Amino acid sequence: MSLIIFLLWVVNIPFFVHSQADPRGYLLDCGAGEKNGSSIGDLKFTTDEGFINVGNITSLKTPNLVSILSTLRYFPNDSARKYCYVIPVIKGGKYLVRTTYYYGGFDGGQEPPVFDQIVEGTKWGVVNTTEDYANGLGSYYEVMVMALGKTLSLCLARNEDTKSSPFISALELEYMDDSLYNSTDFSKYALVTVARSTFGDDGDSITFPDDKYNRMWHPFKDSNPVVESHSNITPSDFWNVPPAKAFHNAITTSRGKTLKIEWPPTSLPSAMYYISLYFQDNRSPSPYSWRVFDVFLNGKNFFLDLNVTTNGVTVYSNQWPLSGQNEIVLTPASAIPVGPVINAGEIFQIIPLGGKTLTRDVAAMEELARKFNSPPPDWSGDPCLPKENSWTGVTCSYGEHIRVVAVNLTGMRMPGLLPPDVANLTALNHLWLGGNKLSGNIPELGSLKELQTLHLEDNQFEGKVPQSLGQLPEIREIFLQDNKLNGHIPSELENKKGLSIQM
Ligand SMILES: *[C@@H]1O[C@H](CO)[C@@H](O)[C@H](O)[C@H]1NC(C)=O
Ligand SMILES: *[C@@H]1O[C@H](CO)[C@@H](O)[C@H](O)[C@H]1NC(C)=O
Ligand SMILES: *[C@@H]1O[C@H](CO)[C@@H](O)[C@H](O)[C@H]1NC(C)=O
Ligand SMILES: *[C@@H]1O[C@H](CO)[C@@H](O)[C@H](O)[C@H]1NC(C)=O
Ligand SMILES: *[C@@H]1O[C@H](CO)[C@@H](O)[C@H](O)[C@H]1NC(C)=O
Ligand SMILES: *[C@@H]1O[C@H](CO)[C@@H](O)[C@H](O)[C@H]1NC(C)=O
Ligand SMILES: *[C@@H]1O[C@H](CO)[C@@H](O)[C@H](O)[C@H]1NC(C)=O
Ligand SMILES: *[C@@H]1O[C@H](CO)[C@@H](O)[C@H](O)[C@H]1NC(C)=O
Repeated sequence: MSLIIFLLWVVNIPFFVHSQADPRGYLLDCGAGEKNGSSIGDLKFTTDEGFINVGNITSLKTPNLVSILSTLRYFPNDSARKYCYVIPVIKGGKYLVRTTYYYGGFDGGQEPPVFDQIVEGTKWGVVNTTEDYANGLGSYYEVMVMALGKTLSLCLARNEDTKSSPFISALELEYMDDSLYNSTDFSKYALVTVARSTFGDDGDSITFPDDKYNRMWHPFKDSNPVVESHSNITPSDFWNVPPAKAFHNAITTSRGKTLKIEWPPTSLPSAMYYISLYFQDNRSPSPYSWRVFDVFLNGKNFFLDLNVTTNGVTVYSNQWPLSGQNEIVLTPASAIPVGPVINAGEIFQIIPLGGKTLTRDVAAMEELARKFNSPPPDWSGDPCLPKENSWTGVTCSYGEHIRVVAVNLTGMRMPGLLPPDVANLTALNHLWLGGNKLSGNIPELGSLKELQTLHLEDNQFEGKVPQSLGQLPEIREIFLQDNKLNGHIPSELENKKGLSIQM
C-alpha cells in the first residue's frame, strides 16, 4: 500500500458552507471545547467533543486566523497506538472525509509533526504539513470511503518520523449519493483526492453551496487561452454531478491546434488512479455547437472521437496507471472548425482497503471497552487494524478472517466489569486481566474453545467459579486467586494433565 499522500494547496483557507439541516454530514471544529464551534457565513462547525475521548485541546494566539483553525486537539500520549474519532454514520454509505491541519506552533515548536492518518482501519496517508506551514498555509487531505458499520473511525497515529504530538484542526464528513463515483468498488478500495480542478479559473475555489456535496474545486490556469461558457449545464446530467459553476470557464486552443495541459500539477507516485474529465462546448446552443477531439493521457488513448456539445459530457476511467508528471493532450478531429476545450477534472489515487476485523469480535471488544471503567486510551476504532495500530494489550491473527486472539491488560488497576460478551471472542487463546479492580461475576466462558490461559487473579470478582471452565479443551492455566470467589473448580478439570490452577 502506498503511504504517499498528496497535499492540496489551500490558497484561500477553505470556507466551508453547510446546510445545518443535513444530518448526513459533520463539520467538526476540533478542540473547540465546550463552546459552540465556529460559524463562517452560513456554515456552522460544531465542537468535536463527544466524538473522541482522548487528546488535549488548545487555541492558537495567531491573529486573523480563520476561526476553525484557531483551536486544535493534540495527542501527547506517546504510548497510545492511535487516537480515534468515532462518528455515527449510515452503514454502507459513502463519505468524503476531509481532515484539516494548521500547526501554528501550538506546542512551542518550530516544525509541525509528521504522522499517519487512518480511516476505517486502513492507513491512507502521512500528514506532513511542513511546507504549507512554512508558507503560512493550512493543509487538508481527503479520502472517499464506505462506512463499514454504523460508525466511521478516523484515527491519527505516530510513525517512525513523529517527533512531537500529532494534532488536528478540523474534521468533515460529507455523505456522497450512491450514484457518485459508483464505478469504484468501495467494499475493496478508497479514493484519495489528488486534485479537483476547474480549468481556466483564477478566482476563489468552488465549494458549498455551488457544489451540494461540499467538494472543493480549485482554480487551475496555464498559458492556454480561456473561454467563457454561453449556456448553463444541468449537474445531474453528468457522472459525479459536478457543480454548474465548474463549467463557467474552460481552457481551449485555436482551430486545428492540439491542446496540452500539464495536470495534475504535482508529480505522482506510481499507482492506479481514478480520473474524470468534464467538457462542454462553450458557444451558444445551436445545431452547429459541437466539437470533436481525441483525449490522450501521457500519449495513451483516454477517449477517441469525443463529441462535446453545449450539454457537456463526462469521460472517466476507473483504473488508470500513472507516475511522475502527467500531460493531457486534446487533438482536434480534422475539418472541425474549432479547437478542443476542457472545463474540469478530478483525479484520485485508488488505495486498497486493509480489511476489517470480524464484526462479532469488534462488537465484543467494543462491549469490553464500555464495561471496563478506564480502558487504555487507544481502545477505539478497529481493535486489530492497521496491524501496527491494534489496541494496547490486544493481539490478533491476520488470516482469512481477522480475529482477536489475546487480550492482556495485566496490572492496570482498572475498575469495571467483565461482560458476558467476552465469550463471543471465540478465537481467543489468552485472556489476561490479572491485577485490576474488576468486580461482579465471572461470565460463562464455555464457548472459548481455543482458550489456553485464563488469568483473572488479583481482582474483585465475586460469586461462583463458572462451571463452564470445565468445557475448555485447550486450557492449561487458570489463575483465579485473590478474588472474592466461592465454589470449587469444575470436576472435569480435577485430573486434567498439564493444567495449572490457582484459586
Ligand atoms: C450555542 O448555540 C446554541 C444554538 O445555536 C445557543 O443557544 C447557545 O447559546 C450557544 N452557546 C454558547 C456557549 O455560545
Ligand atoms: C493533557 O490533559 C491531561 C488531563 O486531561 C493532563 O493530565 C495532561 O497534563 C495534559 N497534557 C498536556 C501535555 O498538557
Ligand atoms: C497512554 O497510553 C497508554 C497505552 O494506551 C496507557 O496505558 C496510558 O495509561 C496512557 N497514559 C495516559 C496519561 O493517559
Ligand atoms: C516533510 O516535508 C518536508 C518539506 O517538504 C520535507 O523536507 C521532510 O523531509 C518531510 N518529512 C518527512 C518525515 O517525510
Ligand atoms: C452509477 O450511477 C449511474 C447514474 O445514476 C447509473 O446510471 C449507473 O447504473 C450506476 N452504476 C452502478 C454500477 O451502480
Ligand atoms: C456531435 O453531436 C451533435 C449533437 O448530438 C451531432 O449533431 C453531430 O452530428 C455530432 N458530430 C459527430 C461528428 O458525430
Ligand atoms: C454476543 O453473542 C450473543 C449471542 O450470539 C449476542 O446476543 C450478543 O449481542 C453478542 N454481543 C455483542 C457485543 O455483540
Ligand atoms: C501479559 O502481560 C504481562 C505483563 O505485561 C506479561 O508478563 C505476560 O507475559 C503477558 N501474557 C501473555 C500471554 O502474553
